[in-house]
Amino acid sequence: MNVGAFSLSPAVMVAPMAGVTDLPFRETVHDFGRVWVEGEMVSANPDLLESNESERKIAFGDEPSPRIVQLLGTVPAWMNRAASFVEECGADIIDINMGCPAKKICKTDCGSALMKNLPLADEIIRGVCGTVSVPVTLKMRTGWDSDHLNAPELARIAESAGVRLITVHGRTREQGYSGEAEYRTIREIRSAVRIPVIANGDIDSPQKAASVLDFTGADGIMVGRGALGAPWLPGRISAYLETGVDPGEPSVQEKAETVFRHLKRHLDFYGEKNGIRSFRKHLLWYLERFPGGTEAFRPLSRLSNTSELVSGLSIFLKKTF
Ligand SMILES: Cc1cc2nc3c(=O)[nH]c(=O)nc-3n(C[C@H](O)[C@H](O)[C@H](O)COP(=O)(O)O)c2cc1C
Repeated sequence: MNVGAFSLSPAVMVAPMAGVTDLPFRETVHDFGRVWVEGEMVSANPDLLESNESERKIAFGDEPSPRIVQLLGTVPAWMNRAASFVEECGADIIDINMGCPAKKICKTDCGSALMKNLPLADEIIRGVCGTVSVPVTLKMRTGWDSDHLNAPELARIAESAGVRLITVHGRTREQGYSGEAEYRTIREIRSAVRIPVIANGDIDSPQKAASVLDFTGADGIMVGRGALGAPWLPGRISAYLETGVDPGEPSVQEKAETVFRHLKRHLDFYGEKNGIRSFRKHLLWYLERFPGGTEAFRPLSRLSNTSELVSGLSIFLKKTF
């Protein structure tokens, strides 16, 4: 799969996830194989664009290219300005968010609400593609609701506006994250456009990835929630798609080392006080995958000092070896 000067085969991507795909998480995913990991969405609102929060989201460290930044917004001039800004900050690919289902986002006509206003979606995409020299991609859902599965139409609009890759989450906005993702609409989009199409939704194993690729004819897949507490999964999927052999889950020891490596990166990035608090969600996702982990989480989540957390976690993880 080629997007501008970047190529990836097999094409395995990690979904942009607000509050999750920060630099420490992306680096930890990269430890397990060559995949693309999209950063957290950045608001194009000028009041938020140059904030510390956005600066943190656009921090790339030494991570490999392409560095993918997603923009959220509905005002074309703001989107153009934000696109220039993140390009200047070093983004290699700019993704436009037309998939976020959150009420507070859709109320401001951002995210998946743009799937109800294709002329505005077209204007935004055209504007961003015309403003930056890096490739622009688009992420969307299958439509607003089951009566309006207009993703193939938006995909055609995006392709003619200059978008270089489309990712589709196989759910409508109305579904949120409920029910199961459907892949028929993704298959339809694959035959509607010539640019690469990435299938997204409920892919949580190498075998599921292969079957979704087979069914949709998509050029690649994107993993979201399957990688929570399992940053090794995207690399494992990539290895399976490349060789036909599933390397399987890492050993318990390797998983434990991953938790510590991620924790260290997280604390270095956020500082101890904020970092311990914001790592809690990762800790829960990791521990849920170990027997007895949910019970162990409660006391560990109360610790507010690194050495106590590291020693508590070591004691628990050693018991599971
Ligand atoms: C915690 C979380 C945060 C998310 N944040 C974003 C986001 O910022 N931008 C976006 O386009 N999608 C976001 N999503 C949606 C995912 O990118 C993905 O499309 C969705 O989770 C479906 O894939 P999955 O079934 O593999 O999780 C988020 C999902 C989760 C669970």
